[in-house]
Amino acid sequence: MRLGNATASLSLLLAMCMASASGGSAGRRVTTAGLVTMGRAQFVEMCAACHGNAADGGEGPSLHRLGRTPDVIASTIRHGFKDEMPAFTSLNARQVAALAAYVHSLK
Ligand code: HEC
Repeated sequence: MRLGNATASLSLLLAMCMASASGGSAGRRVTTAGLVTMGRAQFVEMCAACHGNAADGGEGPSLHRLGRTPDVIASTIRHGFKDEMPAFTSLNARQVAALAAYVHSLK
């Protein structure tokens, strides 16, 4: 039946979208260490100009030992900070989680 097929391919499409929104190949578990590694690479590209390559400060503050939860850090990344740090609105959920995990891991 045609309608049934259409529904089936729609759910397949949805499943594919969800897999890519949560990032990467379906079914692969993302470890915190993996997120931190991914976050570090993104940090060098997007954040280092202000926070320094090792996040130890530059124009922006050092991000070591911030004492904030990954959720708070993620929110800062999405919304920016005061007037001094831009909001990073084009990042997907996984990219934000990776950056937050990296910043959170800094000792
Ligand atoms: C244009 C420069 C600039 C860029 C790019 C930038 N930041 Fe910032 N960031 C700042 C400044 C300046 C502050 C401090 C603002 C203040 O305290 O008034 C800040 C603050 C923060 C804070 C909050 C620190 C706290 O005390 O809670 C976090 C977390 C942070 N930045 C992470 C990032 C991450 C991750 C990126 C890359 C996605 C990034 N920043 C990119 C300039 C920048």
